[in-house]
Amino acid sequence: MVHPELKGERLQTRAPAARLAEAVGLARGIELAVVHAEVIRIPRIRPATLFGRGTVDRLRALVKGPGAAPGASPADDADDEDVSVEEAAPDGSGPAAIDVTIVDAALSPVQQRNLEKALGCKVIDRTGLILEIFGARARTREGRLQVELAALTYQRSRLVRSWTHLERQRGGFGFMGGPGEAQIETDRRLLSERIIRLTKEIKEVKRTRSIQRHARQRVPYPVVALVGYTNAGKSTLFNRLTRSAVVAKDQLFATLDPTMRALRLPSGRHIILSDTVGFISDLPHELVAAFQATLEEVCEADVVVHVRDMAHADSEAQREDVHGVLAQLGLEATVDAGLIEALNKIDLLAPEGRALVVNQAARRVPPAPPAVPLSASTGEGIADLLAAFDARLTQSRHEIEAEVDLTDGATLAWLYAHGEVTARRDDERLAYLRVRLDAADAARFARRRNGGKI
Ligand code: GTP
Repeated sequence: MVHPELKGERLQTRAPAARLAEAVGLARGIELAVVHAEVIRIPRIRPATLFGRGTVDRLRALVKGPGAAPGASPADDADDEDVSVEEAAPDGSGPAAIDVTIVDAALSPVQQRNLEKALGCKVIDRTGLILEIFGARARTREGRLQVELAALTYQRSRLVRSWTHLERQRGGFGFMGGPGEAQIETDRRLLSERIIRLTKEIKEVKRTRSIQRHARQRVPYPVVALVGYTNAGKSTLFNRLTRSAVVAKDQLFATLDPTMRALRLPSGRHIILSDTVGFISDLPHELVAAFQATLEEVCEADVVVHVRDMAHADSEAQREDVHGVLAQLGLEATVDAGLIEALNKIDLLAPEGRALVVNQAARRVPPAPPAVPLSASTGEGIADLLAAFDARLTQSRHEIEAEVDLTDGATLAWLYAHGEVTARRDDERLAYLRVRLDAADAARFARRRNGGKI
């Protein structure tokens, strides 16, 4: 794994070593064993290979492994000012054969092809890596289709590069003149056809999804979605919450995605808790749609919990990033209305740092979102978070007035179960109620009044 540090990039808020560590974490998350990781400073971008000659030689020696003749060391190469400045701890012990080199930056198709030739191994860039991650994690059908679409579009842009590879795959046909331009054209056409098919399929899935969403809206519980930077601890928190609160066993949820759980809060209120894919810094533009599809639940959430890693050196920059991506997805409004910050991993903080986080959280006043210091690992603060869910949901309640026929026991029961009845007066025929309801429930109730089903 190499993270190129481009000149001028020092203005970035995030240190190159931290960016390298993040990329290594992402690669490990999809089961790649990282045997070598370093930051490489690039004083001058070489259009052909990104890195200078000396660095390319050194990387080739690394890829070949210790048995190969040593390459030129950077210091020997007067042409090359690239210097290796930081290395991350490798997985396992001892050097191993390297199958893939990941360059944590955007490579042009030409650079990628030249590097593959020069290093003698597969080379993928940051977009390629993120596509692999989305591919491994996309859960919904639309998410999977969007990722495949992004991958094919990316591949098509690189077809010139990949034809030698395609030729190899085809085995014995090389003597017929290789794939040549005609074959590239055929491949490109096949890809384009597949892209058109996928686009159609996505449209279809979106249509059925909106039908399903109406069905979901009939599920009478508000949705709480966890978002956050990759490695912030979302999955750990999700598991902790589903263990701390009573998991509602409801047939309605038999069909829910595995990343969703129905929970009963200590107050007795039911919610649906939803986990999402982690945020990644510098999300390549062409991957936004794929990422958005993985965040579908957030758009429908009544409360969004932003899980933050308070022990991370770049915690503040990560927060900005998450907000930036939410804005890019057009979700700020949803989020502002019901955001809670879960200040995670406080067990890793030194006493002073921890006191600071706890004090700052306690002093928050609106419009700043409420913040709950906690540790998903130890369970500390989890009760506070559950209470914050309740507070947030109550806050966003609407007070409605309803007249319900006294014989309509189902509606009365529904109002008592989902809302807070603040006043009631009955005559012989009708009950006159004032009820505070979540925004979603108020909408469901209005639909029911209009002859629809809740
Ligand atoms: P992505 O799936 O990459 O988006 O990550 P995530 O946000 O789901 O993070 P995950 O729950 O996988 O946690 C990442 C790492 O942080 C794991 O090694 C967890 O054990 C660790 N972790 C999570 N919460 C805590 C915490 O409160 N304290 C400590 N010490 N470690 C934690």
